[in-house]
Amino acid sequence: MYKLNIKPKSKIIDTTPSLYGLFFEDINRAGDGGLYAELLRNRAFDDGIIPEGCSYDKNNKLITSPTGWTSSFDCFEEEGIAAWTCINGAKAERIKNDTLNVNRKRALQLQLNGGAILNDGFKGVPVKEGESYKFFMFAKSNSLVKVSVMLTSSDGKKIYTKQDLEISGDYKKYECQLLSSATDFDGRLAIYSESSEKIILGFTSLFPAETFMGRENGLRKELAQRLLDLKPAFLRFPGGCIVEGFSKETAYRFKDSIGPVWERKPHWLLWSYMTTNGLGFHEYLQFCEDANIDAMYVFNCGMTCQGRCPDYFDENLIEEFFQDAVDAIEYATAPADSFWGKKRAENGHPEPFTVLKYLEIGNENWGDEYFKRYEKFYTRLKKLYPDFIYISTDHSERVGLKTEFVDEHFYSDPIFFAANTKLYDDLDPSGINIYCGEYASTIGCKEGTLYGALGEAAFLTGIERNQNKVRMTSYAPLFKNVDYVSWEPDMIIFNNHENYVIPSYYMLKMFAENRGEYVCECNVITDSDRRLESGHFTDEQGNIFEGQCFTKVYENAANLHIKFWDRGTLGEDQNHYDLIIENGNSKIVHFNGWSQEVICKEKSYNLPSGKIKVEIQAKEDWFKICINEKEIYNHTLGSIPHISAVSTVDTKTNELITKIVNFSENKIDLNLETDVLIEQEAQLTVLSGSSYSEKNTFEKPENVKSVNQKLMIGKDNTISILPRSVNVLRQKM
Ligand code: AHR
Repeated sequence: MYKLNIKPKSKIIDTTPSLYGLFFEDINRAGDGGLYAELLRNRAFDDGIIPEGCSYDKNNKLITSPTGWTSSFDCFEEEGIAAWTCINGAKAERIKNDTLNVNRKRALQLQLNGGAILNDGFKGVPVKEGESYKFFMFAKSNSLVKVSVMLTSSDGKKIYTKQDLEISGDYKKYECQLLSSATDFDGRLAIYSESSEKIILGFTSLFPAETFMGRENGLRKELAQRLLDLKPAFLRFPGGCIVEGFSKETAYRFKDSIGPVWERKPHWLLWSYMTTNGLGFHEYLQFCEDANIDAMYVFNCGMTCQGRCPDYFDENLIEEFFQDAVDAIEYATAPADSFWGKKRAENGHPEPFTVLKYLEIGNENWGDEYFKRYEKFYTRLKKLYPDFIYISTDHSERVGLKTEFVDEHFYSDPIFFAANTKLYDDLDPSGINIYCGEYASTIGCKEGTLYGALGEAAFLTGIERNQNKVRMTSYAPLFKNVDYVSWEPDMIIFNNHENYVIPSYYMLKMFAENRGEYVCECNVITDSDRRLESGHFTDEQGNIFEGQCFTKVYENAANLHIKFWDRGTLGEDQNHYDLIIENGNSKIVHFNGWSQEVICKEKSYNLPSGKIKVEIQAKEDWFKICINEKEIYNHTLGSIPHISAVSTVDTKTNELITKIVNFSENKIDLNLETDVLIEQEAQLTVLSGSSYSEKNTFEKPENVKSVNQKLMIGKDNTISILPRSVNVLRQKM
């Protein structure tokens, strides 16, 4: 039996307008070739340069940072020029001298000899019949060389358009507009010449003529629109781990990301590829302005990623990063006649940007090293710029530091989210504010399943109930180019010409579109909730045992470590309950993604000597562990709500809005009990599917999506909630 007891007149808290935002990081090639509309890959020829300070292991195609962290590196420059191919006798060489400017470390020397060089973009240069593309390049030549710039088929044989340019003398910018006569998503940009004279390219670029809001150096329209459709309140940028960097040399510096794109330093991202920084600080602010949302700038506070052999910067370098943060703020906000304001004006925005509202000190940094840096940055910045809202990435208030917001991140399985709808219920509203800056159901949901969305939706009902404390949230990550994957799941999936969104996107859209002005009392009344855990057992050798019972005999074992309800992927995701007996102590720990929760507290326990028979029974919400027939644990886990719900009131339309998540596999008849009269006709938006693993694909992009329907609620005030569903019910009062 499930009942929702709703009191629309009993206001609990106001809703918080900033609750739903966006977090953009250049991961999975979300930037160049993604949201940033550039169509050429390796446009500045710097892909494959080993990042400064790192060493390269040719055999394993790995780079190692100065502190010892390794990462794949599959495009070493000696193995070819990434994305560029010569045809019909053309020759190309990457050169280190004679580059366009100090920030360009390579140039491309060509002898085309009646042939051409092709750029294959991000798995093809996508061109459409009747559409225009803007090309430019910086080139030089000691002779006068006639070249043709073309859009072609992948082998260069079919020419869709052609423009002639004459290159001579020192580096100059050459540009042309290309109108394609055909549609080909695996097209190429080709540069052709009859001549055998040398030419040197310093930088190249190809953009669709149409970008989001028609901006130069702009964004891919349909991807930007996906973001707007989520009705976000803010954008957090530019990361994420890329802010921290793989090494101090690869930490994010705002200064490298502004000015003419061909003068910007490239940036090797710790997601294993190079970006030309074309999508930089200015472009992020411009997007926020165009989208009419607030900007949240995350900057490095003097350390690299703590999960990747951290480098803690010395005082001088910390100071350099402090100055970089100050300069970024000045760039955004200072008048046009100031040093940084002038630069902003030169870049096309004389008026200060008014969108910058939040400053986040570091990303996912923690502990003493962080607190030292947080204090240094916070106190000085707050004095200089008191009006911004500052965000800490750890609970700095717990060590006595002034804290406005704490950014908490959750990557886990759907059960974790569904089980934690009350996570913030007991938080003191007069204390710090929470920003749930990154969250996603990751375990078992890599492709973005309905199951993932259900868990997240249940969690968000808890957050909505506590939105006076958790005042901002953002799902992470936003984008994935399917051809370059470094992290899954991601909310918007694209290739070079199409995109689709995962169920979490539809769920978030439903939540963000149905806000209301205040949260009212809404209680789920039931005694039917259960917890359904299942999975295999894994012993210390990695052997897997299926079923609900595990029995194994050990001989003189000193320690034991056995996993049950194990459903993680070995070496990658973790989701298991572990019996750990070591050094005379025993405990049960739940490892769930990045979180670890001790389920049964550590107690003193010595393994018997000789033969040890271990038996574990694990069923749904209960487990029992016996050693040599003696019970050492017998434990029942708390239930997981099958129905999670929250109600708000839209005072403008006089509607009661109720978000109801059915996390279970059963249809649930839900009795609605309200203390005011409600119209029987309601508007229902539902997201559901026939199994937890339902997902969207390029072939079936709308397999799981939200649908709107009218609903007549019967006299018994009971509605049928579909299994595995997220529902938004709007009822006139
Ligand atoms: O969202 C992907 C990564 O997860 C982010 O870069 C980082 O902040 C977190 O570790």
